[in-house]
Amino acid sequence: MDVADVEFWESIYAAGTPPWDQAAPAPPLVRVIEETELPAHARVFVPGCGFGHEALWLAAHDYHVTAVDFAPAAIEGLRYRAQAAGVAIDVIEADVFDLPTELGGGFDALVEHTCFCAIDPHRRHDYARIAAQLLGHAGVLLGLFFEVAGTIEEGPPFPTTRSDIIRHFEPAFEINRIEQPEDSFSRRQGREWLASMRRREI
Ligand SMILES: C[S@@+](CC[C@H](N)C(=O)[O-])C[C@H]1O[C@@H](n2cnc3c(N)ncnc32)[C@H](O)[C@@H]1O
Repeated sequence: MDVADVEFWESIYAAGTPPWDQAAPAPPLVRVIEETELPAHARVFVPGCGFGHEALWLAAHDYHVTAVDFAPAAIEGLRYRAQAAGVAIDVIEADVFDLPTELGGGFDALVEHTCFCAIDPHRRHDYARIAAQLLGHAGVLLGLFFEVAGTIEEGPPFPTTRSDIIRHFEPAFEINRIEQPEDSFSRRQGREWLASMRRREI
């Protein structure tokens, strides 16, 4: 099966709690969101949201959140969690490479968490371009990237290094920081890159 096919991801959800799910927002992302001091009620986009732990955290902190995943099980899981938490999130079942046009741009921030390493590596430039187009003037991408060694054939997750992140995002983003966080979940310690970047003006 192909990672571009929703059935690939749906079959992982069907097998039980997916292996990437940490049941909580990633501490480095929460920290960088707080440090970034987004405007009150900022519009935030979360691609490949899975069960949406960051989306839930953002909504609980009064941001206007749009979360997208193409796997129905992820969408159902996030809708259930949002209802249980009493928070409002625009949860959209869609392919990040084929987003509904009404989504437009104008988001203040995009929060990336292990979506980059999940998509076909040949589509990474497209992914970075789409991320930039979703953002408005001075929009920021706050990302926690899972570092992956190995070959494309072994993925997903697909090989991801610090230089891969810089190479793919730098054309559309000014990278303000990219560092290995010390507050990763214990099983991801030393295997993540926390990045903060601002959309370049076109
Ligand atoms: C590794 S999981 C990460 C989920 C979540 N961000 C997290 O960190 O818990 C990747 C997610 O991206 C979704 N995904 C992969 N390719 C996608 C695409 N082209 N469009 C939308 N969602 C996609 C999968 O269904 C899956 O839920």
